Amino acid sequence: MSDSSSDDEALPNWDALSGDLGCAALAALKEHFASKDTGDGEGHTPPLTVPPVAWAAGPVEVTSNLDYKHQTYWEQRFAVEDEYEWLASFKQAEPHLSAVLPDKTARLLVVGCGNSSFSEELFDAGWVNVTSIDFSAVVIDRMRAKNVEARPCMKWEVMDMRSLEGFGDGSFDCVVDKAAMDALMCDEGSPWDPSEGTKRDAHLMCLACARVLVPGGRLVMISFAQPHFRRRYLEGFAAPAEVAAADGVVEAYGWRVTAAKGFGEPGCLETFLYACTVCDAVDPKGVGAAAEGSSEGSCAPSGGSD
Ligand SMILES: C[S@@+](CC[C@H](N)C(=O)[O-])C[C@H]1O[C@@H](n2cnc3c(N)ncnc32)[C@H](O)[C@@H]1O
Repeated sequence: MSDSSSDDEALPNWDALSGDLGCAALAALKEHFASKDTGDGEGHTPPLTVPPVAWAAGPVEVTSNLDYKHQTYWEQRFAVEDEYEWLASFKQAEPHLSAVLPDKTARLLVVGCGNSSFSEELFDAGWVNVTSIDFSAVVIDRMRAKNVEARPCMKWEVMDMRSLEGFGDGSFDCVVDKAAMDALMCDEGSPWDPSEGTKRDAHLMCLACARVLVPGGRLVMISFAQPHFRRRYLEGFAAPAEVAAADGVVEAYGWRVTAAKGFGEPGCLETFLYACTVCDAVDPKGVGAAAEGSSEGSCAPSGGSD
Protein backbone atom coordinates (compact mmCIF):
# COMPACT_ATOMS: atom_id res chain seq x y z
CA MET A 1 0.00 0.00 0.00
CA SER A 2 1.20 3.45 -0.79
CA ASP A 3 0.82 6.27 1.65
CA SER A 4 1.86 9.87 1.81
CA SER A 5 5.49 9.45 0.90
CA SER A 6 8.01 12.22 1.14
CA ASP A 7 7.97 12.38 -2.70
CA ASP A 8 4.27 13.18 -2.66
CA GLU A 9 4.80 15.87 -0.06
CA ALA A 10 7.29 17.60 -2.33
CA LEU A 11 4.66 18.09 -5.03
CA PRO A 12 2.48 21.18 -5.30
CA ASN A 13 -1.15 21.05 -4.30
CA TRP A 14 -2.49 20.19 -7.75
CA ASP A 15 -6.05 20.33 -6.53
CA ALA A 16 -5.75 23.96 -5.53
CA LEU A 17 -3.79 24.89 -8.63
CA SER A 18 -6.20 23.24 -11.03
CA GLY A 19 -8.78 25.87 -10.15
CA ASP A 20 -6.37 28.73 -10.84
CA LEU A 21 -4.33 27.70 -13.84
CA GLY A 22 -5.24 27.06 -17.44
CA CYS A 23 -4.84 23.60 -18.87
CA ALA A 24 -1.57 24.30 -20.67
CA ALA A 25 0.04 25.97 -17.68
CA LEU A 26 -1.01 23.15 -15.39
CA ALA A 27 0.29 20.54 -17.82
CA ALA A 28 3.62 22.36 -18.10
CA LEU A 29 3.92 22.50 -14.33
CA LYS A 30 3.17 18.83 -13.98
CA GLU A 31 5.75 17.98 -16.62
CA HIS A 32 8.27 20.06 -14.75
CA PHE A 33 7.69 18.06 -11.57
CA ALA A 34 7.53 14.77 -13.44
CA SER A 35 10.92 15.56 -14.97
CA LYS A 36 12.36 15.70 -11.47
CA ASP A 37 11.62 11.99 -11.20
CA THR A 38 14.76 9.98 -11.57
CA GLY A 39 12.92 7.18 -13.36
CA ASP A 40 14.00 3.60 -12.90
CA GLY A 41 17.69 4.29 -13.24
CA GLU A 42 17.82 2.50 -16.57
CA GLY A 43 17.32 5.44 -18.85
CA HIS A 44 13.55 5.04 -19.28
CA THR A 45 11.33 8.05 -19.55
CA PRO A 46 10.30 9.16 -16.10
CA PRO A 47 6.63 8.73 -15.34
CA LEU A 48 4.15 11.50 -15.87
CA THR A 49 2.39 10.40 -12.73
CA VAL A 50 -0.32 12.95 -12.38
CA PRO A 51 -2.15 12.70 -9.10
CA PRO A 52 -5.80 12.16 -10.06
CA VAL A 53 -6.54 14.99 -7.64
CA ALA A 54 -5.28 17.35 -10.32
CA TRP A 55 -8.21 16.82 -12.62
CA ALA A 56 -10.85 16.06 -10.10
CA ALA A 57 -11.75 19.31 -8.45
CA GLY A 58 -15.04 17.90 -7.27
CA PRO A 59 -17.44 19.12 -4.62
CA VAL A 60 -16.16 16.74 -1.92
CA GLU A 61 -12.81 17.46 -0.35
CA VAL A 62 -10.12 14.98 -1.30
CA THR A 63 -7.75 14.34 1.58
CA SER A 64 -5.56 11.82 -0.22
CA ASN A 65 -5.41 10.14 -3.61
CA LEU A 66 -6.41 6.97 -1.78
CA ASP A 67 -9.92 8.43 -1.51
CA TYR A 68 -10.50 7.51 -5.16
CA LYS A 69 -10.37 3.88 -4.22
CA HIS A 70 -13.07 4.12 -1.59
CA GLN A 71 -16.71 3.58 -2.34
CA THR A 72 -17.69 6.04 0.41
CA TYR A 73 -15.78 8.86 -1.31
CA TRP A 74 -17.65 8.28 -4.55
CA GLU A 75 -21.04 7.93 -2.81
CA GLN A 76 -20.51 11.29 -1.07
CA ARG A 77 -19.28 12.95 -4.22
CA PHE A 78 -22.16 11.67 -6.38
CA ALA A 79 -24.69 12.77 -3.76
CA VAL A 80 -23.79 16.39 -4.51
CA GLU A 81 -22.34 16.38 -8.02
CA ASP A 82 -24.54 16.06 -11.12
CA GLU A 83 -22.02 15.43 -13.85
CA TYR A 84 -18.27 15.20 -14.30
CA GLU A 85 -16.38 13.99 -17.33
CA TRP A 86 -12.94 12.50 -16.72
CA LEU A 87 -10.03 12.58 -19.15
CA ALA A 88 -11.83 13.09 -22.44
CA SER A 89 -15.21 13.97 -23.81
CA PHE A 90 -17.15 11.56 -25.97
CA LYS A 91 -16.55 13.89 -28.93
CA GLN A 92 -12.78 13.66 -28.46
CA ALA A 93 -12.85 9.89 -28.06
CA GLU A 94 -15.42 8.97 -30.70
CA PRO A 95 -13.14 8.71 -33.77
CA HIS A 96 -10.73 6.50 -31.85
CA LEU A 97 -13.55 4.42 -30.39
CA SER A 98 -15.15 3.91 -33.78
CA ALA A 99 -11.87 2.52 -35.08
CA VAL A 100 -11.71 -0.21 -32.43
CA LEU A 101 -15.44 -0.64 -32.03
CA PRO A 102 -16.98 -0.47 -35.51
CA ASP A 103 -20.00 -2.70 -34.78
CA LYS A 104 -22.80 -0.53 -33.41
CA THR A 105 -24.91 -3.56 -32.53
CA ALA A 106 -22.21 -4.80 -30.14
CA ARG A 107 -23.26 -5.46 -26.53
CA LEU A 108 -21.30 -2.85 -24.59
CA LEU A 109 -20.51 -2.84 -20.89
CA VAL A 110 -19.28 0.50 -19.53
CA VAL A 111 -17.48 -0.06 -16.22
CA GLY A 112 -17.10 2.63 -13.54
CA CYS A 113 -19.50 4.86 -15.51
CA GLY A 114 -19.83 7.48 -12.76
CA ASN A 115 -22.01 10.50 -13.58
CA SER A 116 -20.31 11.07 -16.93
CA SER A 117 -22.51 11.42 -20.00
CA PHE A 118 -20.24 9.02 -21.89
CA SER A 119 -22.64 6.04 -21.80
CA GLU A 120 -25.56 8.21 -22.91
CA GLU A 121 -23.53 9.69 -25.75
CA LEU A 122 -22.45 6.23 -26.86
CA PHE A 123 -26.11 5.30 -27.01
CA ASP A 124 -27.08 8.48 -28.86
CA ALA A 125 -24.29 7.88 -31.38
CA GLY A 126 -25.86 4.54 -32.29
CA TRP A 127 -24.32 1.96 -29.97
CA VAL A 128 -27.77 1.04 -28.77
CA ASN A 129 -26.90 -1.91 -26.57
CA VAL A 130 -25.27 -0.27 -23.57
CA THR A 131 -25.13 -1.55 -19.99
CA SER A 132 -23.31 0.61 -17.44
CA ILE A 133 -22.10 -0.33 -13.98
CA ASP A 134 -20.58 1.44 -11.01
CA PHE A 135 -20.09 0.42 -7.40
CA SER A 136 -21.86 3.60 -6.27
CA ALA A 137 -25.57 2.92 -5.77
CA VAL A 138 -26.16 6.69 -5.57
CA VAL A 139 -24.88 7.31 -9.07
CA ILE A 140 -26.52 4.25 -10.62
CA ASP A 141 -29.91 5.22 -9.17
CA ARG A 142 -29.44 8.73 -10.52
CA MET A 143 -28.35 7.62 -14.01
CA ARG A 144 -31.19 5.11 -14.24
CA ALA A 145 -33.78 7.71 -13.19
CA LYS A 146 -32.31 10.30 -15.56
CA ASN A 147 -32.58 7.97 -18.56
CA VAL A 148 -35.65 5.90 -17.84
CA GLU A 149 -37.82 7.91 -20.22
CA ALA A 150 -35.33 9.32 -22.71
CA ARG A 151 -33.31 6.14 -23.16
CA PRO A 152 -35.35 3.29 -21.68
CA CYS A 153 -33.23 0.58 -23.33
CA MET A 154 -30.10 1.57 -21.43
CA LYS A 155 -29.27 -0.64 -18.45
CA TRP A 156 -27.69 0.52 -15.18
CA GLU A 157 -26.45 -1.87 -12.46
CA VAL A 158 -24.61 -1.51 -9.16
CA MET A 159 -21.58 -3.79 -9.40
CA ASP A 160 -17.91 -4.07 -8.59
CA MET A 161 -15.77 -4.10 -11.72
CA ARG A 162 -13.26 -6.33 -9.96
CA SER A 163 -15.74 -9.21 -10.12
CA LEU A 164 -18.67 -8.26 -12.41
CA GLU A 165 -20.50 -10.91 -10.43
CA GLY A 166 -23.91 -10.13 -11.92
CA PHE A 167 -22.92 -11.12 -15.45
CA GLY A 168 -22.35 -14.54 -16.93
CA ASP A 169 -19.33 -15.56 -18.96
CA GLY A 170 -19.34 -14.16 -22.50
CA SER A 171 -22.19 -11.68 -21.89
CA PHE A 172 -20.64 -8.77 -23.79
CA ASP A 173 -18.88 -7.98 -27.05
CA CYS A 174 -17.02 -5.05 -25.60
CA VAL A 175 -16.11 -3.64 -22.19
CA VAL A 176 -15.46 0.11 -22.17
CA ASP A 177 -13.38 1.63 -19.37
CA LYS A 178 -12.82 5.38 -19.17
CA ALA A 179 -10.73 6.33 -16.14
CA ALA A 180 -12.10 3.36 -14.20
CA MET A 181 -8.97 1.25 -13.80
CA ASP A 182 -7.23 4.57 -13.16
CA ALA A 183 -9.30 4.85 -9.96
CA LEU A 184 -7.89 1.49 -8.84
CA MET A 185 -4.36 2.83 -9.25
CA CYS A 186 -4.57 5.41 -6.47
CA ASP A 187 -2.55 3.28 -4.09
CA GLU A 188 -0.07 2.27 -6.76
CA GLY A 189 2.87 4.00 -5.07
CA SER A 190 5.82 4.16 -7.42
CA PRO A 191 4.66 3.11 -10.89
CA TRP A 192 8.04 1.44 -11.29
CA ASP A 193 7.27 -0.80 -8.32
CA PRO A 194 3.50 -0.81 -7.76
CA SER A 195 1.85 -1.84 -4.51
CA GLU A 196 0.49 -5.36 -4.11
CA GLY A 197 -3.03 -3.91 -3.61
CA THR A 198 -2.96 -2.16 -6.97
CA LYS A 199 -1.60 -5.22 -8.72
CA ARG A 200 -4.27 -7.44 -7.16
CA ASP A 201 -7.13 -5.08 -8.07
CA ALA A 202 -5.90 -4.53 -11.63
CA HIS A 203 -5.55 -8.28 -12.10
CA LEU A 204 -9.04 -8.97 -10.71
CA MET A 205 -10.50 -6.35 -13.01
CA CYS A 206 -8.73 -7.78 -16.06
CA LEU A 207 -9.89 -11.28 -15.13
CA ALA A 208 -13.50 -10.11 -14.72
CA CYS A 209 -13.48 -8.18 -18.01
CA ALA A 210 -11.96 -11.11 -19.88
CA ARG A 211 -14.55 -13.47 -18.37
CA VAL A 212 -17.59 -11.45 -19.46
CA LEU A 213 -16.27 -10.94 -23.00
CA VAL A 214 -17.13 -13.28 -25.85
CA PRO A 215 -14.31 -14.82 -27.88
CA GLY A 216 -13.29 -12.10 -30.30
CA GLY A 217 -14.61 -9.48 -27.87
CA ARG A 218 -12.64 -6.44 -26.81
CA LEU A 219 -11.73 -4.39 -23.77
CA VAL A 220 -11.37 -0.74 -24.77
CA MET A 221 -9.70 1.42 -22.14
CA ILE A 222 -9.24 5.19 -22.05
CA SER A 223 -6.69 6.21 -19.45
CA PHE A 224 -4.25 8.85 -18.30
CA ALA A 225 -1.58 6.14 -17.96
CA GLN A 226 1.21 6.02 -20.49
CA PRO A 227 1.71 2.74 -22.36
CA HIS A 228 4.87 1.73 -20.52
CA PHE A 229 2.90 1.79 -17.26
CA ARG A 230 -0.58 0.60 -18.23
CA ARG A 231 0.19 -1.86 -20.98
CA ARG A 232 2.02 -4.26 -18.71
CA TYR A 233 -1.08 -4.66 -16.49
CA LEU A 234 -3.07 -5.60 -19.58
CA GLU A 235 -0.26 -7.99 -20.51
CA GLY A 236 -0.53 -10.00 -17.30
CA PHE A 237 2.21 -8.36 -15.24
CA ALA A 238 -0.07 -8.36 -12.18
CA ALA A 239 -1.22 -11.95 -12.60
CA PRO A 240 0.05 -14.14 -9.75
CA ALA A 241 2.15 -16.08 -12.21
CA GLU A 242 3.25 -13.70 -14.89
CA VAL A 243 2.62 -15.48 -18.16
CA ALA A 244 2.70 -13.68 -21.44
CA ALA A 245 3.28 -15.99 -24.34
CA ALA A 246 6.03 -14.93 -26.68
CA ASP A 247 3.52 -14.44 -29.47
CA GLY A 248 1.75 -11.74 -27.48
CA VAL A 249 -1.31 -13.69 -26.33
CA VAL A 250 -1.73 -13.02 -22.61
CA GLU A 251 -2.45 -16.42 -21.11
CA ALA A 252 -4.03 -15.09 -17.92
CA TYR A 253 -6.76 -13.23 -19.84
CA GLY A 254 -6.85 -14.96 -23.23
CA TRP A 255 -6.43 -11.65 -25.07
CA ARG A 256 -3.71 -9.68 -26.73
CA VAL A 257 -3.15 -5.95 -26.61
CA THR A 258 -4.13 -4.76 -30.06
CA ALA A 259 -3.99 -0.99 -29.66
CA ALA A 260 -2.15 1.49 -27.47
CA LYS A 261 -2.24 5.02 -28.78
CA GLY A 262 -2.31 8.55 -27.47
CA PHE A 263 -4.76 11.28 -28.28
CA GLY A 264 -5.77 14.55 -26.71
CA GLU A 265 -5.97 18.27 -27.00
CA PRO A 266 -2.76 20.08 -27.98
CA GLY A 267 -1.15 21.68 -24.95
CA CYS A 268 -2.91 19.40 -22.48
CA LEU A 269 -1.85 16.10 -21.04
CA GLU A 270 -2.21 13.21 -23.43
CA THR A 271 -4.91 10.60 -23.01
CA PHE A 272 -4.35 7.01 -24.09
CA LEU A 273 -6.59 4.42 -25.65
CA TYR A 274 -5.90 0.70 -25.26
CA ALA A 275 -7.66 -2.24 -26.84
CA CYS A 276 -7.32 -5.89 -25.82
CA THR A 277 -8.91 -8.43 -28.12
CA VAL A 278 -9.92 -11.86 -26.82
CA CYS A 279 -8.60 -14.58 -29.08
CA ASP A 280 -11.08 -16.95 -30.69
CA ALA A 281 -11.12 -20.09 -32.80
CA VAL A 282 -11.03 -18.10 -36.04
CA ASP A 283 -8.04 -16.04 -34.93
CA PRO A 284 -6.49 -17.95 -32.02
CA LYS A 285 -3.49 -15.61 -31.78
CA GLY A 286 -5.47 -12.39 -32.31
CA VAL A 287 -3.18 -11.61 -35.22
CA GLY A 288 -5.96 -10.14 -37.38
CA ALA A 289 -7.03 -7.81 -34.57
CA ALA A 290 -3.44 -6.78 -33.98
CA ALA A 291 -3.03 -5.91 -37.65
CA GLU A 292 -6.31 -3.99 -37.52
CA GLY A 293 -4.97 -2.10 -34.50
CA SER A 294 -1.63 -1.31 -36.08
CA SER A 295 -3.29 0.08 -39.19
CA GLU A 296 -4.71 2.68 -36.83
CA GLY A 297 -1.21 3.75 -35.94
CA SER A 298 -1.61 1.94 -32.67
CA CYS A 299 0.65 -0.20 -30.51
CA ALA A 300 2.73 2.94 -30.06
CA PRO A 301 1.75 6.13 -28.33
CA SER A 302 1.54 9.21 -30.50
CA GLY A 303 3.93 10.94 -28.17
CA GLY A 304 6.53 8.26 -28.82
CA SER A 305 7.09 7.58 -25.14
CA ASP A 306 7.07 3.82 -25.38
C1 LIG B 1 -12.42 8.47 -12.25
S1 LIG B 1 -14.11 8.08 -12.20
C2 LIG B 1 -14.51 7.86 -13.94
C3 LIG B 1 -15.98 8.06 -14.21
C4 LIG B 1 -16.38 8.02 -15.69
N1 LIG B 1 -16.06 6.72 -16.27
C5 LIG B 1 -15.75 9.12 -16.49
O1 LIG B 1 -14.95 8.82 -17.39
O2 LIG B 1 -16.03 10.28 -16.27
C6 LIG B 1 -13.99 6.40 -11.59
C7 LIG B 1 -15.34 5.74 -11.45
O3 LIG B 1 -15.09 4.38 -11.12
C8 LIG B 1 -15.97 3.98 -10.10
N2 LIG B 1 -15.33 2.87 -9.41
C9 LIG B 1 -14.17 2.90 -8.69
N3 LIG B 1 -13.87 1.68 -8.24
C10 LIG B 1 -14.85 0.85 -8.68
C11 LIG B 1 -15.09 -0.55 -8.55
N4 LIG B 1 -14.25 -1.33 -7.85
N5 LIG B 1 -16.18 -1.07 -9.16
C12 LIG B 1 -17.03 -0.28 -9.87
N6 LIG B 1 -16.86 1.05 -10.01
C13 LIG B 1 -15.78 1.61 -9.43
C14 LIG B 1 -16.19 5.23 -9.27
O4 LIG B 1 -17.38 5.16 -8.52
C15 LIG B 1 -16.22 6.30 -10.34
O5 LIG B 1 -17.51 6.47 -10.85
